[in-house]
Amino acid sequence: MSAHIPRSPAGAPTEQIVDGLHEYGAVIVEGVISPDVLARFNAELDPLLEKVSPDRQYLNPMIDQFYGNRVRQITGMAAQSRVFGEEILCHPFYASLCDAVLGPNCSSYQLNVAQVMDRGPGAAHQMLHRDEAVWVHLPRPHPEVELASVIALVDFTSEIGATVVVPGSHRWDRDRGPKREEFACAEMPAGSAVVYLGSTIHAGGRNSTRDRWRRGMHMSFVVGWLRTEDNNYLSTPPPVARTLPRRSQELLGYAAHDAMAVGGGYLGTVDLLDPMELLAQGKL
Ligand SMILES: [Fe+2]
Repeated sequence: MSAHIPRSPAGAPTEQIVDGLHEYGAVIVEGVISPDVLARFNAELDPLLEKVSPDRQYLNPMIDQFYGNRVRQITGMAAQSRVFGEEILCHPFYASLCDAVLGPNCSSYQLNVAQVMDRGPGAAHQMLHRDEAVWVHLPRPHPEVELASVIALVDFTSEIGATVVVPGSHRWDRDRGPKREEFACAEMPAGSAVVYLGSTIHAGGRNSTRDRWRRGMHMSFVVGWLRTEDNNYLSTPPPVARTLPRRSQELLGYAAHDAMAVGGGYLGTVDLLDPMELLAQGKL
């Protein structure tokens, strides 16, 4: 692996990170999650992961193969972790990045999915893919619809299975496959994130250690008019959502997507009203 992924500290100007994203399709950002938040988040995850079996069934055999049987997953994070729901989901780093990348293409953006992926010893190299391929009906070219990331919750090394990225692949024709020397390994310390576009080819790396788990979290956001991968309203139902910060509720999709100002309409209303108001009034 010899390709290059640019690196920035989390405090770097947003334009610098966005420029890197447009040029390379991916940027490693160090220090996104502070040591304090990281420690508290990992402490919440420990008992949750204890209860998860890596050998589980998914929606269909293709997905079984995509994740493999050495990976412990937790989804619906906002209902599982207060640290996630109150601090990570509405983290200002993601807000500024989503404002810049997704903001021009929607009236508001939302969480697509947050999913802890604890890749165990022996986890195989994942199939290379583009995250936005789930929206196969979306014509190309299209404006950016997704901003994705993998947050390292432990140190990511090549040996433990750090995310493998193909820089520049966001600009490729869909039938072009990468050569070995076009791969880059997103090695980074815990608390960092590799941020990438929905069109950038990547995969979870092979965990070749004997006894270490590669704990990371995929977190991605999409334009507010697109169907999300995780059904966030059911994963974090109103009784739980009501206890979260207003901004987190909005990001979970409870806010109506209001495109009236640009000649569009409302999406996601309940009884022709904004679910955010109904939630605040205790009517949801
Ligand atoms: Fe992915």
